[in-house]
Amino acid sequence: MMLRTLISALLILCSYSLHGLAQPARCPPQRCPIISAPPRPRPPVYPRPRPPLYPPGLPLMPRRDPRNPGPLSNRARILFITQELKRNITYDPQNYTCTWVGNNYCLFKGFFCDTVPDLNITGLARITFNGARFGGTFLNFYRFIRYLPDLAIFHANSNNFSGPINNNLRQLRYLYELDLSNNRFLGRFPSSVLGATNLTFLDLRFNTYAGVIPPGLFNIDTNVLFINNNGFAQKIPATLGNTPALYLTLANNKFTGEIPRTIGRTWNTLLEVLFLNNRLNGCLPYEIGYLQKSTVFDVGGNLLTGPIPQSFGCLFKMELLNLAHNQFYGTIPESLCRLPNAYNFSLSCNFFTQVGPVCRRLIRAKRLDVRSNCITGLPQQKSAAECTRFFARPRCCPRESTFSIVPCRLATTGESLEEEEFEVIPTIDEMTPPSPTTYGALTKPHH
Ligand SMILES: *[C@@H]1O[C@H](CO)[C@@H](O)[C@H](O)[C@H]1NC(C)=O
Ligand SMILES: *[C@@H]1O[C@H](CO)[C@@H](O)[C@H](O)[C@H]1NC(C)=O
Ligand SMILES: *[C@@H]1O[C@H](CO)[C@@H](O)[C@H](O)[C@H]1NC(C)=O
Ligand SMILES: *[C@@H]1O[C@H](CO)[C@@H](O)[C@H](O)[C@H]1NC(C)=O
Ligand SMILES: *[C@@H]1O[C@H](CO)[C@@H](O)[C@H](O)[C@H]1NC(C)=O
Ligand SMILES: *[C@@H]1O[C@H](CO)[C@@H](O)[C@H](O)[C@H]1NC(C)=O
Repeated sequence: MMLRTLISALLILCSYSLHGLAQPARCPPQRCPIISAPPRPRPPVYPRPRPPLYPPGLPLMPRRDPRNPGPLSNRARILFITQELKRNITYDPQNYTCTWVGNNYCLFKGFFCDTVPDLNITGLARITFNGARFGGTFLNFYRFIRYLPDLAIFHANSNNFSGPINNNLRQLRYLYELDLSNNRFLGRFPSSVLGATNLTFLDLRFNTYAGVIPPGLFNIDTNVLFINNNGFAQKIPATLGNTPALYLTLANNKFTGEIPRTIGRTWNTLLEVLFLNNRLNGCLPYEIGYLQKSTVFDVGGNLLTGPIPQSFGCLFKMELLNLAHNQFYGTIPESLCRLPNAYNFSLSCNFFTQVGPVCRRLIRAKRLDVRSNCITGLPQQKSAAECTRFFARPRCCPRESTFSIVPCRLATTGESLEEEEFEVIPTIDEMTPPSPTTYGALTKPHH
């Protein structure tokens, strides 16, 4: 059965090159090699499961009432830096700073205390300034946080923090969540945040960082990595494949080049990834087909080209797939349209030339959008002139033979194609919409 599917996949690929309109000029002839699926890439070695931040059995003082916290860790230095920040804040619409009085920082608005594991007394565990909209000429994030050594969580989106971030973040031994989105950071990526090796959540979206990201960014042990809506302009480093992140957003930057094939190494972890609205080009690596856990894959609005690799038929969990507004061409793989969780697959505004019966069924259910392509006989397609112009230039991908690799056992339906075509499937309106995590990151916090 699997062999049959593989063979029909190969036939589709071959017939594609015989199709008049779709035939790219001067490409080497297709030989349709028989390719056996290579083994799954080995995931990179990173320390998982993450060691607990302190021994789980350690008997600790229970968290105390903030009004009666007992001796406070680092009291003098925390009070000192808080007063300095307070002097620098000239705009405080939510009235935080007027509560920053007295000796007990656990009662300051935005400050939260807990027992510090290694000291076993109360300390400052969490800062939450999200949406405070603090303004001032210079709110120096790095100077402030450096004086808060027991901190685990720093959430300060939508403020006017800025300034360079230096190396000593690693002294914050418990820091595991850092949200600096929608602040005034600019310039080069703050490589020194990589020193905080216990970070599981790093959110730097909506700043004006530019230039390149350090390759090491993908080596840190984060679950969530949001760097969308900055000005990063470079090829995505091959270290991408090292990220253990579940949620990854690189959208709305100026990334160029190809999606690294190392992405296949994230098959055991990556749930959602957004590459949309960059300047990515080249063809899709077949290794994307290894992402057996991914529910969201979005490369919309780039300059990507080539056919959809047959390996996409292995994306069994995929719910939201967006390849719209690129320069993809060829036949849409029928195996893609058989994916059980397909909710919204958008392939519109490309140069696809053929869809089979299973895909037509998905189109009727409004779960597959192929508008503005070059598919003969379907409504709302590009003009013949535009399609002809596109295919007048030679179109090839490197590693052409990898496009027919199917690195999984495809679902077998037991039905004939014809039965499958007319089988009634739920329409998009009859399905429960998925609730992705990453798309929310594309709107500015506290806009
Ligand atoms: C921490 O303090 C509590 C009492 O305040 C004590 O019961 C516990 O043993 C202490 N833990 C350590 C590791 O010293
Ligand atoms: C902050 O304080 C000012 C003056 O006391 C008051 O007018 C304003 O409503 C307060 N704002 C908030 C968000 O509490
Ligand atoms: C925040 O920073 C920006 C840019 O530095 C500045 O234009 C703006 O006035 C600042 N906002 C406040 C409330 O200080
Ligand atoms: C406060 O402003 C001064 C003067 O611009 C600056 O040197 C200092 O780093 C700032 N401190 C904080 C915590 O923002
Ligand atoms: C991260 O946490 C571990 C404890 O699990 C600790 O040994 C290490 O020093 C921490 N890393 C940093 C950079 O503080
Ligand atoms: C489907 O996805 C496309 C691309 O992300 C989006 O523009 C469109 O609004 C979505 N349609 C539905 C019904 O969710």
